[in-house]
Amino acid sequence: MILRKRTDGKYAAMDSFSRTYAVSDTEDGAMSSLSDNDRLFHSYDDYVDYIWSINFFQEIYYNITYRCNLSCPYCYAPNSHAYISVENNKIIAKKFLELQVGSVVITGGEPLCHPYLSDIINELITNGIENISILTNGTIVNDELCDLMRKYSIEVQISLDGYSEETNAPTSGIGNFTKVMKTVTKLESIGVKYSLVNTLTSENIAFSRQFVDFCEGKGIDYAFFVVKKVGDKLRPDKESLIGLYDYLTRIGYNVVDIFNCVKMSEQMMFDKVGFPITHCGAGITSLTISPAGDAYPCLKMLDNPSSIICNLLAEDAIQKINEQRKIQSDIN
Ligand SMILES: C[S@@+](CC[C@H](N)C(=O)[O-])C[C@H]1O[C@@H](n2cnc3c(N)ncnc32)[C@H](O)[C@@H]1O
Repeated sequence: MILRKRTDGKYAAMDSFSRTYAVSDTEDGAMSSLSDNDRLFHSYDDYVDYIWSINFFQEIYYNITYRCNLSCPYCYAPNSHAYISVENNKIIAKKFLELQVGSVVITGGEPLCHPYLSDIINELITNGIENISILTNGTIVNDELCDLMRKYSIEVQISLDGYSEETNAPTSGIGNFTKVMKTVTKLESIGVKYSLVNTLTSENIAFSRQFVDFCEGKGIDYAFFVVKKVGDKLRPDKESLIGLYDYLTRIGYNVVDIFNCVKMSEQMMFDKVGFPITHCGAGITSLTISPAGDAYPCLKMLDNPSSIICNLLAEDAIQKINEQRKIQSDIN
């Protein structure tokens, strides 16, 4: 149970298990208004039992290479020539099948720098992965890959940090805005689903409203990632973020849609207590895989070897992942 005094003097109580919320003039009133019947879990043990019963993965972030043709200054991904081999990908794709993986997000580095990306995708499809998406900087997309994206209904998320060459170049590099727009035109013409994702920094947030207008004007799906794992200087300040939320509200977004649009991992850290409200599924329903086959709970842990759960190439990988689910439920 989380209890807070609001700025209007009322008390708000939130049940971290059921996610119910109540407001009252008194602390007791707020707490007693929360209905016990609505609870999803009645005790922490119920909740842990539930975690143990999960035997599938909703989403895997599959870093097939750390190579990248760009060098965005805020990037959390290691920059090296590491890549998954076709042979190891076969082993990993089989493990995905065993783990009942629902969808694979191919990322990196720049996945399109991998010389055998098509083989990797084909192997995933052969192993029953129906939902595949690719995160790309959109600057080196070729026709062969476009055909594959169309054939398997692969969704593409293209990173773009500005709405023009001038606003995009400072982080993504000179000339890349035009390349991305060519990719957008191509994907549009062949009916591949795509969206544009803008990584918000203290510098480019000043142009975020124009980015919204740009995408809205062209009917393009878009979202923002608030930059993470960087120093304070690169992080957008609170006022600028509120300015963007305000703008989105004015053009018709509701609260939930705003948080879907402006993704900020910190919003999961609503409070230190109350597991279900804070947990994002890391290590339980989602995993991140490195080009060496190491499995991590989350993308943000890629630089921390002590977070490795197991190596997917190892025989006992599935057993270790299942053990980790229990640990994850305890530490979150
Ligand atoms: C690391 S890239 C890898 C895939 C591909 N190269 C791309 O550009 O989309 C995946 C996404 O993470 C975003 N990203 C990189 N570093 C970030 C950070 N420190 N905080 C938040 N998002 C970041 C990128 O802008 C990109 O949208």
